[in-house]
Amino acid sequence: MRTVLIAACCLAVALPALASAPVKPARLGLCAACHGETGMAQIPAAPHLAGQKADYLLEAMKQYRDGRRNVPLMRAAVGPMSDADLAELARWYSAQSPQQGRP
Ligand code: HEC
Repeated sequence: MRTVLIAACCLAVALPALASAPVKPARLGLCAACHGETGMAQIPAAPHLAGQKADYLLEAMKQYRDGRRNVPLMRAAVGPMSDADLAELARWYSAQSPQQGRP
């Protein structure tokens, strides 16, 4: 009984931390050249993604993938990805904090 209580407490403490810091997506390397690992764009033409709403990011990526947003560059980047990949990337970028003084 005591062990169960301790486990429950640990879980309650650990869960919010997990929610705010998602695991780094395996596909992040494909995006980082332009959007940065933390969502601060590395090139002038790319938008910052850090802190943007996850639902919005996910929807935008789906729009590139199915051509509703006709941007060949982004279509190539997200074209081969599953919904789960896109959701993981959206959660990651959404959980980042925007930083000042980056290009
Ligand atoms: C070669 C550079 C490049 C790469 C690589 C790239 N992007 Fe982009 N991304 C862009 C540019 C440029 C835009 C703006 C396109 C437009 O005009 O709609 C954009 C737009 C976006 C948007 C829409 C943002 C908004 O505010 O509407 C999302 C989301 C996004 N990219 C996610 C990703 C993800 C996730 C990856 C990796 C799988 C990725 N991008 C790879 C250059 C890139």
